[in-house]
Amino acid sequence: MTADEHYLKRELYELVQKESSIFEFLQQGSLDGVWYWDIENPEAEWMSPRFWELLGYDYRKMKPLASEWQDLVHPDDLQIALSNFSKHCEDSTHPYDQLVRYYHKDGSTIWVRCRGMAIRDDTGKPVRMLGAHTDLTQLKRTEEDLKKSNNELIAANKILKETQAQLVQSAKLASIGQIAAGLAHEINQPLATVLGKADLTKLILEREQGVDKEVVTENLDMICSEIVRASKIIKHLKTFSRQDKLSERVEIDINWLINESFVLMSKTLHLEGVNVEKELTEGLPHVLCDYVQIEQVFTNLIRNATDALKESTEKQLVMCSYQRDDSICIEVRDTGRGISETAMENVFDPFFTTKPVGQGTGLGLSISHGIIREHNGTLDVKSKEGEGTCFTITLPIAA
Ligand SMILES: Nc1ncnc2c1ncn2[C@@H]1O[C@H](COP(=O)(O)OP(=O)(O)O)[C@@H](O)[C@H]1O
Ligand SMILES: [Mg+2]
Repeated sequence: MTADEHYLKRELYELVQKESSIFEFLQQGSLDGVWYWDIENPEAEWMSPRFWELLGYDYRKMKPLASEWQDLVHPDDLQIALSNFSKHCEDSTHPYDQLVRYYHKDGSTIWVRCRGMAIRDDTGKPVRMLGAHTDLTQLKRTEEDLKKSNNELIAANKILKETQAQLVQSAKLASIGQIAAGLAHEINQPLATVLGKADLTKLILEREQGVDKEVVTENLDMICSEIVRASKIIKHLKTFSRQDKLSERVEIDINWLINESFVLMSKTLHLEGVNVEKELTEGLPHVLCDYVQIEQVFTNLIRNATDALKESTEKQLVMCSYQRDDSICIEVRDTGRGISETAMENVFDPFFTTKPVGQGTGLGLSISHGIIREHNGTLDVKSKEGEGTCFTITLPIAA
């Protein structure tokens, strides 16, 4: 010990050497077992009472023999301890320090951190081994409990994710139900045109003479383009109702997607007397998104706006797009009944609806909010009762 050591440290070290009760106190107070092993006579080993108490044994009945504990150690851990022991004997800087599983008398596992130090003779040959035990069982059990809870959480989270995906899908199908009448119209119209033109062409061809090739070609062209129109709607409907487990993100022009959303919605809006206006900024940077999901958000907002406009005299719906900083903003504005201050607090909550049973699910906004959040965007609302509502989506520009 050097002269600059604290006087209390010096005093304590002297006390330990003189008074055995001091050593006794130290090992009992800070350790869960001490052992001292005669390497030259390997069967002889002294273990402290606490060593045995920790393993559930009466120390008075235990013999001071190494063989007394060897069967109480997990064989794998014994291997590690023995390997560390021989390395430590060869090189004192290699630590004899490992976590060892002991079998308690009652069959349970006791986790012990077992550290040791070889005592060497003048030639450096190890003659004794001094060891100390620290009981880490409680810590290990807590760790295992934590692991278990964590696994349960992961499983619960998975179920939640799946339920959410199912909800998204159900809400999507429900919104198709809501626009079914408009869709039927939209598809019927080209079909009626096709039928009319086909009938007419047949008549022309049945006429014996004077077939006007130009008129026939014109009619057939019309038939083709109307079929294309109808199949476009059907194709769009198929994409929209796709059950998407794996969301696929692609770079898109948001204006294209805004126009696409009206492929399914425009007839419904027309039937309900809503006047649609688009204020789209040209040449906007692209956004990276799952466009089927974003279209679902647009459809939800447009549907809500249409519902809000039911009793309005001036039925105006505006959809606009513009850039603000590193984001693309999309607004869906209506001149409908607006949202009351109390309802405002809950509009994004799942199952919150002010619509009659059968008309509202209360899922549109909560699902939309979830979709936008997953795209690292935001969905906000401003509204004045009796005047109208404006929902604003922001989506980050694709890097
Ligand atoms: N554009 C809007 N104008 C007025 N109220 C709206 C508008 N959009 C949403 N809301 C209110 O928010 C509620 C929740 O909307 P949503 O989550 O889409 O469920 P749902 O449409 O099935 O009721 C609606 O019931 C309505 O009260
Ligand atoms: Mg809705």
